[in-house]
Amino acid sequence: MVATTSIHGMWTTRLAFILAATGSAVGLGNVWKFPYITGENGGGAFVLVYILCVSMIGIPIMMAEIMLGRRGRQSPINTMRTLAHAEDRHGFWQLIGWGGVIAGFLIISYYSVIAGWAIAYAFRALGGSFTSLTGETAKDLFGALTGDPERLLAWHTIFMVMTTIVISRGVRSGLEQAVRVLMPALFGLLLVLVGYALTSGNFMDGLRFLFVPDFGALSAGAIITAMGHAFFTLSLGMGAIMMYGSYLPASASITRSTIIIALMDTLVALLAGMAIFPIVFANGLEPGAGPGLVFLTLPIAFGNMPGGLLFGTLFFVLLVFAAWTSAISLIEPAVAWLVENQGFARVRASVYVGIVAWLLGIMTVLSFNDWAFSFDFAGEAKTNGVFDLVDILTANFMLPLGGLAMALFAGWFMARASTQDELALGQGPAYRLWRVLIRYIAPLAVVLVFFNAVGLL
Ligand code: PFF
Repeated sequence: MVATTSIHGMWTTRLAFILAATGSAVGLGNVWKFPYITGENGGGAFVLVYILCVSMIGIPIMMAEIMLGRRGRQSPINTMRTLAHAEDRHGFWQLIGWGGVIAGFLIISYYSVIAGWAIAYAFRALGGSFTSLTGETAKDLFGALTGDPERLLAWHTIFMVMTTIVISRGVRSGLEQAVRVLMPALFGLLLVLVGYALTSGNFMDGLRFLFVPDFGALSAGAIITAMGHAFFTLSLGMGAIMMYGSYLPASASITRSTIIIALMDTLVALLAGMAIFPIVFANGLEPGAGPGLVFLTLPIAFGNMPGGLLFGTLFFVLLVFAAWTSAISLIEPAVAWLVENQGFARVRASVYVGIVAWLLGIMTVLSFNDWAFSFDFAGEAKTNGVFDLVDILTANFMLPLGGLAMALFAGWFMARASTQDELALGQGPAYRLWRVLIRYIAPLAVVLVFFNAVGLL
């Protein structure tokens, strides 16, 4: 009943899994989204809540999600159906998988457009557009891109084609090698940028903004955004990590893998913040500049540092790769389901999924120009129409809700023996701690943050 391998193939080693899951976790969320939402939500206190959410909610739920995947060995929809059956529970638990597929489509639709910005910037870096850039000219350069829907559509199309090609070949081939080179390179370049920020930016103000909490700046909107981002950045709550867990060999330690992935992911985000905010303060930019923040700041650094042409190009190319290894995991659950249930060949399934994602992406393409509109979310003004709506709906609501359901299933509806068997932590304090976190702390925290956001608390 409980399968030991997946029909889609298996990771060869635990390291291959860690690399793939890190590839999924580290992406635009760390380098693009974390800095700009930190800027919009007042800095230090937001970062603290985010780190708390990663450790108290994200880590236990990631363990649960990997565990469910490995036990089910199929796409999240079928994994949840199989496990619900095996545990004698109602079939509606498979809704976790369905919700995840929908969230995956919605997220990839805008993720691909933003990844397109990174491709555009790689070419700009190479072409020397960053030379002697200032805060003002950086804004013009960015506005010229986002104000032009045709250009955005072209880059979005290129990114979706790249993603569809890789996913049609199966996620294992090449992913391990790619991430093995990508992550150290990205780390190295972020360190170069932090070095630049240290010497030429307003480093102390940047650090103070990131790490000194001002709890007065912490709105209900900021809290739910921080929690939502913990899910988003770790790829949790929609089945991406469950899918990757389904390819994990039985002998690998789930706990150790999870901790390594979460640490690397957090480190990349913090490094990006440490590179960006000193430049914000040294160049008269606004921390709350919005989704353009990384594209307004880092080009200034590249335009003014020795070797900036090379570093700048390399950095945006790496960012595209990081986005790519995340994008794959966003649609893998849908592709795997089509292969399992509709009997599609992998290539056909990938093309269908790619086309739907591409079409949905057009909403984001137009969000920054022709269709732009503003609305209020928990007291904050959002100006980028459908893009902001989709982002808030998925990251702040759908992913935490999916994660909550997984926590409840793993904590309350699976036999203790099943989870113990899968986590292989014995009966010791580590298992007991996980069980308290997954049964009480994580679900309660998610529910309280939801209540708080809708004004009930
Ligand atoms: N974790 C990715 C990032 O931080 O860029 C985004 C992501 C990938 C979210 C996969 C959700 C997911 F399932």
